[in-house]
Amino acid sequence: MAPRPIIIDSDPGTDDAIAIWLALASPELDLLGVTTVAGNVPLALTSKNARKVCELAGRGDVKVFAGCSRPMLRPLVTAESFHGHDGLGHAPLPEPDMPLQPQHAVDWLVDSLMAAGDQGVTLCPIGPLTNIAMAIVKEPGILPRIREIVLMGGGFFAGGNTTPAAEFNIHVDPHAAQVVFTSGVPLTMMPLDVTHKALMTAERIAAVRALETPVAKAAAGMMASYGAHDAEKYARDGGPLHDPCVIAYLLEPAIFSGRDCNVRIETASEATMGMTVVDWWGSTEEPRNCRVIDEIDDDRFFKLLTERLAAL
Ligand code: BDR
Ligand code: CA
Repeated sequence: MAPRPIIIDSDPGTDDAIAIWLALASPELDLLGVTTVAGNVPLALTSKNARKVCELAGRGDVKVFAGCSRPMLRPLVTAESFHGHDGLGHAPLPEPDMPLQPQHAVDWLVDSLMAAGDQGVTLCPIGPLTNIAMAIVKEPGILPRIREIVLMGGGFFAGGNTTPAAEFNIHVDPHAAQVVFTSGVPLTMMPLDVTHKALMTAERIAAVRALETPVAKAAAGMMASYGAHDAEKYARDGGPLHDPCVIAYLLEPAIFSGRDCNVRIETASEATMGMTVVDWWGSTEEPRNCRVIDEIDDDRFFKLLTERLAAL
């Protein structure tokens, strides 16, 4: 079967880096490009980090496009306290030689989706949804060309990680999320409800480190630095590994399970701004616009990740 064309829209970000490596290590996926957005750190850093990550994997040929430098309406909120001041958990990755593509990410998203073949393109947003929403607003003709959107964001039973009600990616740009969640494109959401079950235990990090490749050593270092903060915050055996769940879902969907629900994004109340309001119990007649994932076979997930990283 021909590899599935995907675009990763990201804000690297330690867990973003690991998601990009997982995609690069997977022949089932054809990574058309990486688009970057302001999120965990400002745009200049996410754009540089995406290139560092590709180059460390020997993939200086991957096209990286810089996108939006701020959310649609709200001021940018960043997350250096989790990802380090440089966004990569202080992993000493070499400065990239590969160039940033000259085209704006939103324009490239529109162009490449409009040129997509019959099978369409799967979008994998693992940062704030600004670029995706801007592309939809700029050219709604892209909608039928998007096969599906599988995103990391939101949380319902697990609550929020940035405010009591909201997860980081949705909180940073709730208006962009609203555009995406009302777009009619098939959506799958990897919320905190599932990623908080994908814990980077010391044993799992050690298995990655033992691969002894430059990518594996960097990944293990990032998992340890990012994970330690969250392990303490949530009093668990390890921190959650969020963004790679999106790529793993494309590779082995049977690792995950969830439910089709109506999901609305809160954009009016400051206290709950960016909350993903999931109609888990079917309390309304609103359309089921999103598959909400809440369960993971975490051992299989980390086995898949470790096996794939070994190939890089
Ligand atoms: C999400 O926020 C970011 O800090 C991570 O990269 C992930 O995409 C988790 O809430
Ligand atoms: Ca991210």
